[in-house]
Amino acid sequence: MNIQNKSLKNSLEFKSIDYQLQPYTNPELISEKGPQVFNSGSGVNVEDIDGNSYIEGMSGLWCASLGFGENELIEAAVKQMRKLPYYHSFTGKTCETTIKLSEKLIEIAPNNLKKVFFCNSGSEANDTAIKIVWYYHSSLGNPNKRKIISRKGSYHGVTLAAASLTALDYAQKGFGLPLDFALHTTWPHYFQNSYENESEKEFCSRLIKDLEQLIEMEGAENIGAFIAEPLMGAGGVIIPPKSYFEMIQPILKRNEILFIADEVISGFGRTGNMWGSQTFNIKPDIVTCAKGLSSAYAPISAVLMSENISKQVEKQAIKLGQFGHGYTYSGHPVSSAVALRTLEIMEERDIITHVRDITTVFSKRISELKKYRCIGNVRSIGLIGAAEFIKPGTKREKIDPQHKFAAKVVKKIHEKGVILRALPIDAIAFCPPLIISKDEINQMFDRIETVLPEMDQVAYGYV
Ligand SMILES: Cc1ncc(COP(=O)(O)O)c(C=O)c1O
Repeated sequence: MNIQNKSLKNSLEFKSIDYQLQPYTNPELISEKGPQVFNSGSGVNVEDIDGNSYIEGMSGLWCASLGFGENELIEAAVKQMRKLPYYHSFTGKTCETTIKLSEKLIEIAPNNLKKVFFCNSGSEANDTAIKIVWYYHSSLGNPNKRKIISRKGSYHGVTLAAASLTALDYAQKGFGLPLDFALHTTWPHYFQNSYENESEKEFCSRLIKDLEQLIEMEGAENIGAFIAEPLMGAGGVIIPPKSYFEMIQPILKRNEILFIADEVISGFGRTGNMWGSQTFNIKPDIVTCAKGLSSAYAPISAVLMSENISKQVEKQAIKLGQFGHGYTYSGHPVSSAVALRTLEIMEERDIITHVRDITTVFSKRISELKKYRCIGNVRSIGLIGAAEFIKPGTKREKIDPQHKFAAKVVKKIHEKGVILRALPIDAIAFCPPLIISKDEINQMFDRIETVLPEMDQVAYGYV
C-alpha cells in the first residue's frame, strides 16, 4: 500500500487553511502542502479526506482506547445532549450523570482514593492536583511546602504549572519556563542513562540517592509533592526499573511529600490493569487521569484524592467560605455521560482481559524488531511500547539528532498506512486502541516491517 497525499493549498473545499495555529506543529512544515485532514474513523482505522486509510497505532494521542467508531459512546452523548446538554457543578449544583460517574470512579479508584474533582484535560488535572497539594499543606500550617518534584523526561501537560513539571525542552523553550516551584530529578531510563557496566539494581539505587539528595538540598519543609507517570509516555515510553517506586515511596512518606500518579496515559487498562499504579505497585495520594476516561470521545479529566486530603481540603474551604477552584465545564454532563459509558463498556466487554490476552502477540512483535541493526532497545507493557534507535554496530550510541531519524521512520511507516509517533529520544512509540485484534496487530507490524530494512541502510549511512 502506498499513500497519496494531495496538496490542500489549492483545495476548493476550504477558504483558507492558514487561520489555525496548530499545536506541536512546525508552521514551516505545513506551509507548503497544508495539514493532513482526517474525516472519518472506524475500529482501529482512521481515514483522511483523500480516502487514505491508516491503522492508528497511537490511538490518536494515546487516548482513543475503544477505537474510532464506538456507537454506544455516540449514543450516550446524543442521549445526554437531548436531556441536558450543559449544566455546571458550581455553587452546590451538579448533574445526575456527573454524580454517577464520580460513584463509578471512586468504585474503581486505586489505593482507596475517595474524592474526585473534574476538569477537561490532563494539563488541567495536573494543575488542579498541584493547587490541591498547596491548599492541603497550607491548611495544615505548612504553606512553604510548595515545591513539586518531577522527573527529567516526563510529560505532564502544557498549562503553566504542568508545563513547568514537563521536563522536556520543547514544552518549555520560548515560554520562560519552568516556574521556580518545579524541581526535576534523574531520568529513570536504564538503557540510555545508566553508566557503563552499572546493573539495573545499581542504577535504581543511584536514582533513589539522587532523589534523597535533592530533598535534602531543597529541604523537605519546602517540598509538597512528587509527581510521576507510572510509565513515562511522551518522554520515551520508559518503563521504570524494578523496585523503583517501591523504594521511592517510603522516602516520600518520611518527608511528608505527597505522591501524585499522573495516570493520563497509563489509566484505564493501558498497562494490562485498570491503573498503572497497580502495575507498578504505587500507592498514590492523588491520581490524575484523562484520555482513556472517555476514550477521547469527549474532553474530560479527573483528579482523585485520598480521604485524608479531601477532608483537609474541605476543612480549609469551610474556613475560607468556599473551595475557590473550578472550570465552567467541570463535570460537563455530556463528557460525563460518555466517560460513564466508556467505563461500563470496559467492564461489560472485559477490555482488560482482552488487553492481557493480546499483550503476548504485541510484545512478541515489538521484541522481534530488535533484529534491525538501527534498533538498540525495545520495550513494552500491556498495549504500549517503543523501539529506540541507535547507530548500527554500537550498543547505545545515538544517531546525530540533526538527521531526525525517528521522524523519518515514522514518515515512511505513514506512507505504508500506519500512524505512529516519533519521540524526542529518537524512538517510535506504539499505543494502539485497546480493542485491537491479534490480526490487526500483526497487520500493523507487517506494514511497519516493510520499511525497516531500508531504514537500516539509511542508518548505516550515518555511521
Ligand atoms: C502523562 C500525561 N500527562 C498529562 C498530559 C496532558 O494532557 P492534555 O494534553 O489533555 O492536557 C499528557 C498528554 O499527553 C500526558 O501524556
